[in-house]
Amino acid sequence: MNILIIHGPNLNFLGQREPEIYGSLTIEGLNALIKKHAALKKAKVRIFQSNCEGHIIDLIAANMTWADWLIINPAAYTHYSYAIRDAIKASGLPAVEVHLSDISKRENFRKRSVTAGVCVKQIKGLGHNSYIKAIDFCAAQ
Ligand code: DQA
Repeated sequence: MNILIIHGPNLNFLGQREPEIYGSLTIEGLNALIKKHAALKKAKVRIFQSNCEGHIIDLIAANMTWADWLIINPAAYTHYSYAIRDAIKASGLPAVEVHLSDISKRENFRKRSVTAGVCVKQIKGLGHNSYIKAIDFCAAQ
């Protein structure tokens, strides 16, 4: 199983960015955990982080024939990017939307996800375990 993992904008700041909300793990630490867990589940991963909407769309397009699954944390784009929503849908990939924090319990603007409707599942609020559970979900299908 091949899993494309995309971290959206500002996730490069993990570890120093609001650690009380997003945890103290850096993106390198998070990616190391993801790779270790994926290997346990016999899944191959390609992991990217981008701060740019168009680049995220290009990453989906460039990897969609390789991938069996997409795990995406669209970060702030979750709340307003119809372009990323359309790219997920256009790829035809089954997608899992993940969030470190519980977006349903934060500011009102975070409560709405425009991308969740084209994903088969949303996993939120578990910190780095949101990604681990997403890999488990993909591996179980
Ligand atoms: C986030 C939640 C978003 O609202 C926020 O803009 C992020 C991270 C999360 O993982 O909890 O950048 O997607």
